[in-house]
Amino acid sequence: MTTLEGIAPTTPRIEGANFLNLLIVDDERSIRDACREIAQSLGFNTFTADSAEHAYRLLESQGIDAVLLDLRLPGAGGLEALNQVKSRRPDAIVVVVTGYGTVQSAVQAIKNGAYDYVTKPFSLDELKMLLDRVVNHLKLKTENRMLREKVKSKQGFGSIIGRSPEMEKLYRIIAKAAYSSHPVLILGESGTGKELVARSIHFSGPFRDKPFIPVDCGSLVPTLIESELFGYVKGAFTGAAQAKDGLLSIAEGGTIFLDEVGELPVDLQAKLLRAIQEKEIRPVGSTKRIPINVRILAATNRDLEQDVSQGNFRRDLYFRLNVLSLRIPPLRERRQDIPMLASHFLDRLSRSAGQERTLSDDAMKAMLAYDWPGNVRELENCLERACALTTGPMIHLGDLSPAVSNLNASHTRTDGSMGSKIIAMAELEKQTILNAIAQLNGDKLMAARLLGIGKTTLYRKLKEYGSQE
Ligand SMILES: Nc1ncnc2c1ncn2[C@@H]1O[C@H](COP(=O)(O)OP(=O)(O)OP(=O)(O)O)[C@@H](O)[C@H]1O
Ligand SMILES: [Mg+2]
Repeated sequence: MTTLEGIAPTTPRIEGANFLNLLIVDDERSIRDACREIAQSLGFNTFTADSAEHAYRLLESQGIDAVLLDLRLPGAGGLEALNQVKSRRPDAIVVVVTGYGTVQSAVQAIKNGAYDYVTKPFSLDELKMLLDRVVNHLKLKTENRMLREKVKSKQGFGSIIGRSPEMEKLYRIIAKAAYSSHPVLILGESGTGKELVARSIHFSGPFRDKPFIPVDCGSLVPTLIESELFGYVKGAFTGAAQAKDGLLSIAEGGTIFLDEVGELPVDLQAKLLRAIQEKEIRPVGSTKRIPINVRILAATNRDLEQDVSQGNFRRDLYFRLNVLSLRIPPLRERRQDIPMLASHFLDRLSRSAGQERTLSDDAMKAMLAYDWPGNVRELENCLERACALTTGPMIHLGDLSPAVSNLNASHTRTDGSMGSKIIAMAELEKQTILNAIAQLNGDKLMAARLLGIGKTTLYRKLKEYGSQE
């Protein structure tokens, strides 16, 4: 007997549903199929299970947000199933489906943590209204979480500082992404806070107690990346005296953050794609495949679309990683965040030095006018350097790095030679980098640290210069 009538093929989608995973648990196939069809037409990602055991497995391996649970399952059904669902996923919203005339069990289910109930047989409209309420409830929950995060930090979102409209927009996307299990591609120039955002997505989400594992695809030696990511068995290669778990296994249940994913060699891109698609990995030297359950976040400061069109990055992997994407705006596009960021870093520096530091008006003016090609990291380093140079409590214009104070001077000059200035700066940057490496006897890591840029940025620049350094 089917209990759903009148499935309309053109039901309008519910806004926000596309971020949500709905699990439908019913032993009757016709009901599962009908509910799935409706939920999908509303925009949900759906999973179905025909038994309580099957549902538990899915709850453990997928980021389920809401569950439609038939209380009359054969075997371990009823309230026991509800309790098991809640213990596996306390944050999930559970709607129980009860038989006609069994309101008593529905009341008990609500007491045990179900969000709502629906009685069989139910109509398309009833189901649609119910799912509408579920989406709104989940949205509200996320917004409340965001509000709580904001109260914790009046200056931004968790540990991310900034209240510009561009950043507020970003926080809304982070909050939504945190509650989805899809891959997210984080884009932004060097030093804009890509790793900070990745951490924020993980630590604002329901699996914040599970591991967050960052992998720098740019700095690992290509031959090592495979064994790092997938692990290896004893004797897989010379030196493999013991078997080792790969990072994709270590991150089980949590998040793996593939930083600088654009640097991944093409053959590994194929292996990674396979692991994501099949949710399985094969350790180096092993014939066995191991199931994995990890959320993938990736970041890059490269133009991946261009890499795809030039054949340097696999299109299919790009689409897999780019299910959701967010772009962190460069600091020069949100200058109003500069004072807040400066005061945040100065507070931290003052605390660690045990001495109060403030910025003079002209120093702040110069900082507001400067373009910050190295973004927030450059600003942080600039203040660190200024604090190290100053003995008094006030940081003056002259204490800032020459680039910051000088550019301010050239800003007031209106010679209109924009084109030549940009070329000159690029050249200046190249000379600065090569000089630093030469002065440090080739120590690139130290050069990157002292220049206030990421080591991958430094390697990329050297590649661009065609330098053998
Ligand atoms: N909005 C922000 N609020 C506070 N700190 C920030 C913010 N953005 C960046 N930072 C700080 O700036 C530094 C650089 O950030 P992060 O490493 O996340 O940048 P990135 O985009 O990954 O850079 P790269 O591309 O060079 O790896 C870190 O110390 C980080 O804590
Ligand atoms: Mg980074």
